[in-house]
Amino acid sequence: MNLWGGRFTKPTNQLVYDFNASIKFDKTFASQDIKGSIGHVKMLTKQEILTQEEGQLIEKTLKEILNEVENGTLEIDESFEDIHSFVESTLIDRIGDTGKKLHTGRSRNDQVALDMRLYTKDQIEMLNTLLVDLLKTIHKIMKEHVDTIMPGFTHLQKAQPITLAHHMGAYFEMFKRLHDIYERMDYCPLGSGALAGTTYPLDREYSAEILGFKGPCLNSIDGVSDRDYLIELLSAMSTMMMHMSRLSEEMIIWNTNEYQFIDLDDTFSTGSSIMPQKKNPDICELIRGKTGRVYGALMGFLTTMKGLPLAYNKDMQEDKEMYFDALNTTKGCLQLLSDMLKTTTFNKEKMKKSATGGFTNATDAADYLVNKGVPFRDAHGIIGQLVLYAISQNKDLDELTLEEFKNISDVFEEDVYQAIDVNTCVNKRNTIGACGQEMMKKVIALNEEYLKQF
Ligand code: ARG
Repeated sequence: MNLWGGRFTKPTNQLVYDFNASIKFDKTFASQDIKGSIGHVKMLTKQEILTQEEGQLIEKTLKEILNEVENGTLEIDESFEDIHSFVESTLIDRIGDTGKKLHTGRSRNDQVALDMRLYTKDQIEMLNTLLVDLLKTIHKIMKEHVDTIMPGFTHLQKAQPITLAHHMGAYFEMFKRLHDIYERMDYCPLGSGALAGTTYPLDREYSAEILGFKGPCLNSIDGVSDRDYLIELLSAMSTMMMHMSRLSEEMIIWNTNEYQFIDLDDTFSTGSSIMPQKKNPDICELIRGKTGRVYGALMGFLTTMKGLPLAYNKDMQEDKEMYFDALNTTKGCLQLLSDMLKTTTFNKEKMKKSATGGFTNATDAADYLVNKGVPFRDAHGIIGQLVLYAISQNKDLDELTLEEFKNISDVFEEDVYQAIDVNTCVNKRNTIGACGQEMMKKVIALNEEYLKQF
C-alpha cells in the first residue's frame, strides 16, 4: 500500500522506492508503532472523532496484530515502504473501510517521532538494568578488596600504592554518571501532526497520559523535529563505551605475562590457531574496538542533524540504523564486561609485590621529613637524592640501612621504616575519596545505599 498515491500520475522509480523505504530497519519498533496507534485510537474515540463501535473495532484488531507480530505469527512484509504503512494496510485488510480512519488527525511525522520515543524509553530501561548489574559487580569487587594493595599509576608509571577497591571505585563513580535523559525526553509528540498541529479536537494530554508520558511536547514543530534525546543517549552510550574501553585496556595490561595482576577465566578468553601457549583477552579488545563504532553513530547523526531547516526532513530517517547498532553494541558490551569481571581472579600477591617496588613510597618518605620539620621543597630534593642512591645500589627505599638514610639526611630515624611501609602509605590516606581502608569502607557503604534504589 502506498500512503500518498493520489497526486501522482506515474509510479515511483524502483531504485527511488528502495532508497526511500525504511521498513527493513523501522520494523525494529513495530510493537511501539502499534501501541502508539492504540493510544491514538483511544483518544479519537474519547473525543468522539470516531464512534465507539469504530474505535473498539480498530483497537481490538490492532491488539490482535500486535500479538501476532510479537509472537511471530504475522510476518512483516518488507515490500511496504515503512512499518507505519504495513500496520495500517494490515488493519484495512482485516476490517475494511473503518481501518482507514486510524490515521485521522495524525501524520507519519508525529507517528515516527512517537515510535522512536517509546522505543528509546524501553531501551533506556534495558540499559539501566545492565548498568546496575555492572555497578553491583564492581561494588562486590570493591567490598572484597579493601586490603588488596596494588600500585596506582600516572603516565603508566608506578606512582603511589592504592588498593584494588579504590581503583575499581573510580569505575563505580564513572558508571554512576548516566545523564537524566529519560526525564528530559518524557514528553509525547503525538498530535503535532505534520508540523502545525491538527484541526481535530484532539486531547493531547490524554494521549500522553495513556501512552505513559509526563505530558505532551509544548511545540508541535519541535515535536516532529526534535531528535535531541537520541543525541543525548548516543552521547551517554559513547561515554559508557569510553569507560568500558579504559577498563578493558587496563585488564589487557593486567593480564599480560609482565604484570600478571589478573587471570581471565577460560570461558572469557580465546586461543591462537598457531601458538598453543596463548590465552588472549579478545573480549577486552573487542569492547575497546567497538567503542569507535558507537562514537561513529554519535558523530554521524550530529552531522545529519546539522543544518536541517525546521521541521521534519527525510534526512531524519537516518536516525535509525546506526542508533540501533549503537544500542545493541553498548548493551552487549555492558553485559559481557560485567560477566567477565565476575569470573576474573585478582592475584593479590603479585599486585602487592608490584606496589612495594618501584619507589611508590617516595612521596611518603618526603612527607616523613616534612612531619619532622623539613620544608616540603627541601624534603622533595632529599628524597630525590635518596632514590638516585638506591637505584645505584639496586635497592628499594625500605631496603636501605639507617646509616645509608642518614648519609643523605640526619633527620632520618628508625621510625622511617614504619612511615614508608606500603600498608602505612595506603592506610594513612584517610580523607574522603582516598584509598585508606577506613575511608574506603565508608564510601563502599554509601554506594551500597545508592544501589538500594534499584
Ligand atoms: N520513515 C520515515 C522516518 O523514519 C517516517 C516519516 C515519514 N514522513 C514523511 N513525511 N515522509 O523518518
